[in-house]
Amino acid sequence: MTDTETRAADDLTLRLDGRSVIVTGAASGIGRRTAELFVEAGATVTACDINPIEAATPHGELKPIVGDVGDEDYVEAVVAAAGATTPLSAIIHCAGIFDGPGLDADISVWRKVIDTNLTSGFLFLKHGIPRIEEAGGGAIVLIGSVSGINGGYKSGPAYAASKAGVHGLVKWAARRYAPTGVTVNAVAPGTIATPMSAAAVVPTKLTPLGHAGDPLDIARAALYLASPAGSFVTGTVMVVDGGMTI
Ligand SMILES: NC(=O)c1ccc[n+]([C@@H]2O[C@H](COP(=O)([O-])OP(=O)(O)OC[C@H]3O[C@@H](n4cnc5c(N)ncnc54)[C@H](O)[C@@H]3O)[C@@H](O)[C@H]2O)c1
Repeated sequence: MTDTETRAADDLTLRLDGRSVIVTGAASGIGRRTAELFVEAGATVTACDINPIEAATPHGELKPIVGDVGDEDYVEAVVAAAGATTPLSAIIHCAGIFDGPGLDADISVWRKVIDTNLTSGFLFLKHGIPRIEEAGGGAIVLIGSVSGINGGYKSGPAYAASKAGVHGLVKWAARRYAPTGVTVNAVAPGTIATPMSAAAVVPTKLTPLGHAGDPLDIARAALYLASPAGSFVTGTVMVVDGGMTI
């Protein structure tokens, strides 16, 4: 290894010491593991969920705020709280819900899924980008899905449409806000072992690597995108699916 390569490897940091990060969906699955990993990486994490949050991490480093990510007042309050004492550096938006398989669902189900999965992303961009910009730049990562790429195997219409919307939203915001120093990306998971996927089991044979992913696989992708190591990546949909969409 040359001296230059050695220095580049030394600079490849996934640490977020002294940074404030918002993680949504932190009571379960991907969001919970993401909140824990970001605390391990040195960040102060404002953890959001509609349900009580008990991540396996010391409470001093994790500040829970319970509420609905589809509610603009809640999102505004979360962003203000997370940036109050430490400059806000990143938002990892994992909260989401699934719908039934067909077009026979009531319109209220469609609206709830779109609000929770997509409108919430718009709200975190709207209120989060100015705060992150003020703090000197950072990253927003929205969790999409392979369902937003290929329609999915078990998801319903609102879920697939909401996730395709998330992918479009990050590309729009990444281009628009690149000059402000804020990167905006999505991570598109395949089947990950969480309570959500347990409710809609996709056959393992559809994943070429032969098994479901772990929430940590998605948390690591989000950490890369939010850390200095991923600072030149913006507007991408990072597929983490064990080969499902090959
Ligand atoms: N598990 C998978 O196979 C898979 C695949 C692709 C994408 N995803 C996406 O990953 C994200 C996390 O999913 P998961 O598998 O960890 O699911 P999960 O059900 O384990 O966790 C989702 C969390 O979001 C919270 N939540 C739901 N509605 C909310 C609201 N209105 N306000 C605040 N919090 C709310 C829930 O309480 C829960 O804690 C979701 O966006 C999901 O669509 C998951």
